[in-house]
Amino acid sequence: MNAQIDHNLEEIRRFRPSPEFAAQSVARQSLYTDAAEDRLGFWADRARELHWHKPFTKTLDWTNPPFATWFEDGELNVAYNCLDRHVLAGHGDRIAIHWEGEPGDSRDISYAELTAEVKRAANLLTSLGIEAGDRVAIYLPMIPEAVVAMLAIARIGAVHSVVFGGFSPDSLHSRILDAEAKLVITADGGYRKGRVFGLKDTVDAALGKGAPSVAHVLVVKRTGNDVAWEDGRDLWWGDEIAQVDADHEAKAFPAEQPLFILYTSGTTGKPKGILHTSGGYLTQAAFTHRNVFDLHPESDVYWCTADVGWITGHSYVVYGPLANGATQVLYEGTPDTPHPGRWWEIIEKYKVSILYTAPTAIRSFMKVGRQIPQKYNLRSLRVLGSVGEPINPEAWIWYRHVIGGGSIPVVDTWWQTETGGIMISALPGITDLKPGSAQIPIPGISLDIVTDEGEPVSGTDGGLLVITEPWPAMLRGIWGDPERFKETYWDKFGDKYFAGDGARRDEDGDIWLLGRVDDVMNVSGHRLSTAEIESSLVAHDMTAEAAVVGAADETTGQAVVAFVILKERQTVTLTNEEASEQLRAHVARQIGAIARPRQVFIVNELPKTRSGKIMRRLLRDLAEGREIGDTTTLADTAVMQSITDQVR
Ligand code: WTA
Repeated sequence: MNAQIDHNLEEIRRFRPSPEFAAQSVARQSLYTDAAEDRLGFWADRARELHWHKPFTKTLDWTNPPFATWFEDGELNVAYNCLDRHVLAGHGDRIAIHWEGEPGDSRDISYAELTAEVKRAANLLTSLGIEAGDRVAIYLPMIPEAVVAMLAIARIGAVHSVVFGGFSPDSLHSRILDAEAKLVITADGGYRKGRVFGLKDTVDAALGKGAPSVAHVLVVKRTGNDVAWEDGRDLWWGDEIAQVDADHEAKAFPAEQPLFILYTSGTTGKPKGILHTSGGYLTQAAFTHRNVFDLHPESDVYWCTADVGWITGHSYVVYGPLANGATQVLYEGTPDTPHPGRWWEIIEKYKVSILYTAPTAIRSFMKVGRQIPQKYNLRSLRVLGSVGEPINPEAWIWYRHVIGGGSIPVVDTWWQTETGGIMISALPGITDLKPGSAQIPIPGISLDIVTDEGEPVSGTDGGLLVITEPWPAMLRGIWGDPERFKETYWDKFGDKYFAGDGARRDEDGDIWLLGRVDDVMNVSGHRLSTAEIESSLVAHDMTAEAAVVGAADETTGQAVVAFVILKERQTVTLTNEEASEQLRAHVARQIGAIARPRQVFIVNELPKTRSGKIMRRLLRDLAEGREIGDTTTLADTAVMQSITDQVR
């Protein structure tokens, strides 16, 4: 095993696009030269590929940094661009969504049908008093109504805040409050790992904590499980939608009309509501989706496995693909239900040609073995994408060979909730591929790697990734907190956006991502904050103090590992195993199952500096089974020994 890893760490093969692929490639080398010659003109041209009710005359306004506007005097309707436009162009019969439920029920929805559903939903929202600028929370499983709801909200100029269905009542509650949502759209339940999970129950619990802004809850019937009902507040989506007008005209909204808020973890305990607007966001989502995945909308079947609760689901399930008139698969469930070949079965069934997923998924398939995917016909695949965390060369090669049959491009895409769209990626058909590296900025994006002082690093030194020029899909702020927006991303370097990732360039100038440099963990491609999990742990009665670190994990990239000091009295009533189990369950309940620590170690002390700061670096050494690093700045250097004895 070690020999194999060593071998792959030295992976130096380069993969040139095949001549056949290059010949039919959507992307052209000229994109790079055009963008280098006239960056703003390049983006303006990309924006003009959308439908504008009123054309823009200004491209970028950066006179008040870090607050940018793009295409400011233009007007468009995002949903019109994703729907009506394709129907009017004669593609109404094209399948927009092949939807596959976890239990095996399925539904094909054409662009004409999707447009019709969104029109009705838009009328329904208006009848419930939702107006342009109002916020609507969405808490849904991966069912077509999730897409319909997002587009209907966009269509009337309102703002959606999608909350991932795995989040707890507390997490949902704080997001509803922060955005002052007027309406929550949910379902009775969803299917996951063969079981029904009750979403409406979670909404009830969240609203039970008090949410004065919420007037209504719209409930999609998915699983048919019993739900509690509050007359006057709760409404069945299906009943209501049947009563509204079928016709709806998409009105124009300014390019900078807020489109959505999406909460993500930061370095403090409180999630940040990342704000995205319309014209620039859609421009970059559509452009990158078409070029990075080499999308041929008339023949490709695209599948992005992300949940709509994350940014990847926003940009590369909803807005990018639909703006491009793509046919895509939407799957409700988990990769291994009801059997471990579920994903490959779906690819075979729909002849998926482009697959976009996360390294953590690939690594878990590697663990189970190639004999599972090899039972299915995956020959329809022609482009593979990766996102969410660095993809190790070993997983890259496995992905290309076992899933891709050994000859198709794998693109590793780096970006963030904040960037709105892909920023670093190879373009298949153009770039020579290099396993493990995200490679180069996409055309029109300017970035750099700098030292802590903001100076460009020399040669192949590691440093901090910064974005040096505004880009169309950039976040426009943190909802309700302009100060935090400046502080988090801009104060460090003044005029450059600080991404929070470490990176280096190799001899060829290709970029390698080195992981987060702040207190943000990346677990299965999901961002979690150490501070948020620590505050959840100390909120438990039995906890005196807690420290959380992200420790390297073979499958999930990083895993949450917690070190907890119990209050005196607990230590007599519970064993350490019991306390640890209770605390793991507590975090899952408070934040969501994705935040459940892999391990909770009960300890007597935590390593602190003389000024009282916890030295997480040492705890990470311990959690990763490494020799403990430099302890000289500890107030009490014997502490690490005592913790190590307790943990090992
Ligand atoms: C990490 C997900 C290495 C990175 C789209 C970033 C990656 C954070 C990659 C954003 C990649 C994402 N290689 N690291 N290809 N893609 N990341 O906001 O640390 O959920 O800052 O957006 O994921 O996570 P987010």
